[in-house]
Amino acid sequence: MSTAATAAEDLNAIVQSAAERFARAATPAELENAKAQFLGKTGRVTELMKGMGSLSVEEKKTRGAAINQAKQAIEAALSARRQALADAELERQLQAEALDVTLPGRQRGQGGLHPISLAWQRIEQIFGGMGFDVGDGPEVENDWYNFTALNNPPNHPARSMQDTFYVDMNDEDGHPYCLRTHTSPMQIRYAVAHAKRHAAALARGEASEIRVIVPGRTYRVDNDATHSPMFHQVEGLWLGENVSFKDLKVTYLNFCKAFFETDDLILRFRPSYFPFTEPSAEIDIQFSSGPLAGKWLEVSGSGQVHPQVVRNMGLDPERFVGFAFGSGIDRLAMLRYGVNDLRLFFDGDIRFLSQFR
Ligand code: PHE
Repeated sequence: MSTAATAAEDLNAIVQSAAERFARAATPAELENAKAQFLGKTGRVTELMKGMGSLSVEEKKTRGAAINQAKQAIEAALSARRQALADAELERQLQAEALDVTLPGRQRGQGGLHPISLAWQRIEQIFGGMGFDVGDGPEVENDWYNFTALNNPPNHPARSMQDTFYVDMNDEDGHPYCLRTHTSPMQIRYAVAHAKRHAAALARGEASEIRVIVPGRTYRVDNDATHSPMFHQVEGLWLGENVSFKDLKVTYLNFCKAFFETDDLILRFRPSYFPFTEPSAEIDIQFSSGPLAGKWLEVSGSGQVHPQVVRNMGLDPERFVGFAFGSGIDRLAMLRYGVNDLRLFFDGDIRFLSQFR
């Protein structure tokens, strides 16, 4: 083999091995390292150039041209590999940031008020418009406010109408605590809380009155399609110089018309019994059109506030006469929204609740 042929083979081998090293470089940094081994100051091609000093002019020409060719081949391989690595990096980035425009948008769920809250708010608005204050009181109530002050003494059989959750604790006066069975204890609490206002008005020779509703949670041992151990009531109380059953009827009828957004309804007062009202009545309503037309629907207890209850409020029953009512908010909401099972309100099923958004 001639020296020239050996030299050419050497160059081919160098180009070959450069191409292999470049192909193995997985990152731009590795590629630049590999490049230095061939084209750097002490690289193999550079060393070959340095070794040309001893050659004749003629040999320098051919050898130089051959080395240059090899060098160009290596540079071409290098830039091809650089480009390949850059392309791969771009491809990787595009993949990572891929956006699938066919995916449906991610929606933020829209919340809404619970139907009981909606009914509660409507009740406050409507009675507010009729001049009623809105009161609020404790759900863990003592036996005095829940029963005794409402003319329902211990051992009175009427107590059994409201089977109750008692709390194993008494207040400082020895009255046991219970979960309030109705919002009626707030009749007493509200009147007592406003006693000063009444006394001052009376001292000035002016009339004073109480006009309040109290919506809130109430508790009884009851559980079926129309009763839940926790339920909601709204208490109404209107006491003044000359407040009569007629006012109760007008007030309640106007409330129902506004609440159900129809004039197509009538009220019926059905005699009943509550220890704290005399006389007492259940209020039934009947729609003359719509899905519930023709049926009497019980919505409220009511009556003229018993003089003993007015006395227990610290007021003079000769001057404070009037009515009270206690309506089921859940019942009103069921009728208004056409819900046939009370338990739906408390199951927390989003398919049910989202219908009220
Ligand atoms: N508190 C009674 C009940 O829960 C309802 C009522 C309230 C009746 C006010 C008369 C007056 O059944």
